[in-house]
Amino acid sequence: MNFKKILTSFWFWVLVIFIGSQSISLNILAKLKENPKDEIQAPKEVMSILKRSCYDCHSSEVKEPFYYNIAPLSWVVQLHVKNGRKVVNFSKWNSYSKEKQFKVMDKLPKAIVIRMPLPSYLWIHQESTLSKYEKNLLKKWANELKETIK
Ligand code: HEC
Repeated sequence: MNFKKILTSFWFWVLVIFIGSQSISLNILAKLKENPKDEIQAPKEVMSILKRSCYDCHSSEVKEPFYYNIAPLSWVVQLHVKNGRKVVNFSKWNSYSKEKQFKVMDKLPKAIVIRMPLPSYLWIHQESTLSKYEKNLLKKWANELKETIK
């Protein structure tokens, strides 16, 4: 086999695997129907930050750009959404126990310092980066809410 042949067969297999991988779908990315009463309530400014920067992974609403459907990116996105919703789904907030609500608000101020939104998400969604002002606003809100849950 000459070099050219190996190269063509390499890309041939990459293509085969890429196309084949498209059929593996985890199907987590669905917009779920929730009781609107269960959605978290927050001051307008906080709410708009949550919707912009957190709702893609922490709510039952999911924006779905076409590339989210392309494996292997689709697997990453679906895992983020699955695990994000497990930690907290703001669309279901009022259905949570006090303990769970408290735990989320307790962790939130630390989480947004470095890890939230997930850095890999921010590569694609720079508009979701939190400014210092927004981080402070979220922290203050979370701490105040936490006090009312206790
Ligand atoms: C790209 C998806 C994604 C976005 C966007 C996102 N999160 Fe998360 N979040 C996750 C995942 C996945 C986890 C669980 C795994 C982990 O902790 O890394 C998580 C965990 C958390 C936790 C729990 C942390 C802990 O210590 O257990 C909190 C609190 C949180 N997120 C808040 C937020 C807030 C607030 C925003 C918006 C500013 C946000 N997240 C944006 C995916 C996301």
